[in-house]
Amino acid sequence: MRKKIVAGNWKMNLDYQEGVSLFSEIAHMVKDEVYGQQEVVVCSPYIHLYALAELSKGIDRISVGAENLYQEEAGAYTGEISAKQIKSTGASYVIVGHSERRAYFGETNEVLAQKIDVALKFQLKPIYCVGETKEERESEQYFEVIREQLQKGVFHLSAEAFAQVVLAYEPVWAIGTGLTASPEQAQEVHAYIRKCVAEKYDETLANDTTILYGGSCNPKNAPDLFSQADIDGGLIGGASLKSRDFTDIVKVFN
Ligand code: PGA
Repeated sequence: MRKKIVAGNWKMNLDYQEGVSLFSEIAHMVKDEVYGQQEVVVCSPYIHLYALAELSKGIDRISVGAENLYQEEAGAYTGEISAKQIKSTGASYVIVGHSERRAYFGETNEVLAQKIDVALKFQLKPIYCVGETKEERESEQYFEVIREQLQKGVFHLSAEAFAQVVLAYEPVWAIGTGLTASPEQAQEVHAYIRKCVAEKYDETLANDTTILYGGSCNPKNAPDLFSQADIDGGLIGGASLKSRDFTDIVKVFN
């Protein structure tokens, strides 16, 4: 059975102390209340990673991830953070290709492919995000957009390397807007993504691939979304900043 994952994405929120305190609350709740097989990942700003990774020690199902990384291994890239540096904090995941990175920082599928490679080289598991804009949905181009994001971003990988990747479908129009994709809309795309993986690799690998949904996911809509056949959990923005909301989403899999 493929892994179920609920991942938080704090984005550029919380100072150091606030982050440590939120993570401590989440970790306690996970320890006391979560009894399923689901994995919890908290993706935070770089400044929190080491402290959160230390706090996560000894709690089985919780791990820590970064929200981005730089595509080069090391060198004169003032202000950037490498995969090796992230790995050295104790983090084990990294989000690659979030739509905010694509839109505000001009990250192309080609650059994202490099980020995927360097993440895997340093044993970080990428959470690779794909998703269409409102215009692309309305003009019914979303399947093509998503196929291209997959082809250029991750389908250059060997099957062995691809097996380390978690995918996340995040329709841009649903992120931070309160407009969630309906369970049927999300399921349609998740099934399509799984089909693309099966065509590129094989059915077994497609069936083993964890595909998360992201975009205004909350404790109310998570049960319907997560009960869809091809939705294996969520990538949670706003609701991951409240310990109760976040763990209630995690507990959908209890
Ligand atoms: P949201 O963000 O849950 O606030 O919509 C999701 C994301 O951007 O990953």
